Amino acid sequence: MSTQIQEESEEATETETETAPVERESPGDRRREAKRTASDQRVASEPVGEIEGDTFRLKVFRYDPEVEGKMEPRFDDFTVPREKGMTVLDALIYARDHYDTTLTFRHSCRQAVCGSDAFFINGRQRLGCQTQISDLDGPVRVEPLPHQDVVKDLVVDMEHFYDQMHAVEPFFQGDTPDGDLEEQRQSRENREKIKMSTRCIWCGACMSSCNIAAGDNEYLGPAAINKAYRFAMDDREEDELKEHRMKILDQEHGVWRCQTQFSCTNVCPKDIPLTEHIQELKREAVKQNLKFW
Ligand code: SF4
Ligand code: FES
Repeated sequence: MSTQIQEESEEATETETETAPVERESPGDRRREAKRTASDQRVASEPVGEIEGDTFRLKVFRYDPEVEGKMEPRFDDFTVPREKGMTVLDALIYARDHYDTTLTFRHSCRQAVCGSDAFFINGRQRLGCQTQISDLDGPVRVEPLPHQDVVKDLVVDMEHFYDQMHAVEPFFQGDTPDGDLEEQRQSRENREKIKMSTRCIWCGACMSSCNIAAGDNEYLGPAAINKAYRFAMDDREEDELKEHRMKILDQEHGVWRCQTQFSCTNVCPKDIPLTEHIQELKREAVKQNLKFW
C-alpha cells in the first residue's frame, strides 16, 4: 500500500516537473544580471583611490571632411591614465583636453539620460558615460555608430533617426481636458505595461545595431516602433487613434520588417524589451485586420 502511494507520489512529482512552466530569462534580465556581476567584480577587484601610474590605450576613430590631411578616416591612439570609476566618456574627455582639442564627440548629462554619447565601443553600441573602462578589454576602441553618416570624428548625422521617430507621432493625443481641467487618470496596470517603453532616451544605439534598418532606409526602426508602442498601448487614447497608430505601423516598412534578431534589445542601454514590443504590435496588427462576417 505504502509502495503504491510512494509510486503515485513519484509519478505526480514527475508530472509536475514536466508541466511546470519554464521560466524564460529575457535579454533585459540577462543584461541586468551581467551588469550586477560586473559591478560586483569591480567592487571586489578595484583598490580604493586612483591607480597611480596605470594607463591604457584609447584608439579613437578620426575623420574630418573639411580639413586637408584629415579627410582619410584613421585611428588615433591616446595613452590615458586609468582612474577608479573611469568611463569611456571620461577617457575621451581626457584625450580631448590633454592631447587634441579638435577631437569631436557629443555628450551632455554624463548619467545615461540625454542619449547623446552612443558610440561603437569595442565592437558594440554603448553609451560612453555608462561604460566603465574596467569592464573592457584593452585597447579601448571607440568608433561612431555604424550605419550612420559620419559628420566628424565620433559625431554621426541623427537626422534620419529623428525623422523615423517623428513619423510615428511620438506624443500623447488623448482627449483635451474640458473646462474644469479634470485629470486623465491612467490605471496602475496600464502604467506598468508601458513603463519600459517610456524609458527611451533617443540614443540611436538600437537603430545602429539593426541589420534590417541598415538595408532598408525606410524601415521605421526599433526605437520609433517602441515609441509608437508607448502610445498605442496607452488606455487614455481613443480606439480610433489606436487604429490610426496601427495603420502607421502595419505597413511595408513598419513592424513586419523586424526579423526578431534581438540585436536592438541586446544593445539598448535602458533595457527596453524592444523585440517583445515589436512582436506585440504585430499581433495587434493581425487582430485589427481580422474581420468576422
Ligand atoms: S530604444 Fe533604447 S537603444 Fe533605442 S534609442 Fe531608445 S534608449 Fe536608445
Ligand atoms: S552623456 Fe548623456 S547619455 Fe551619456
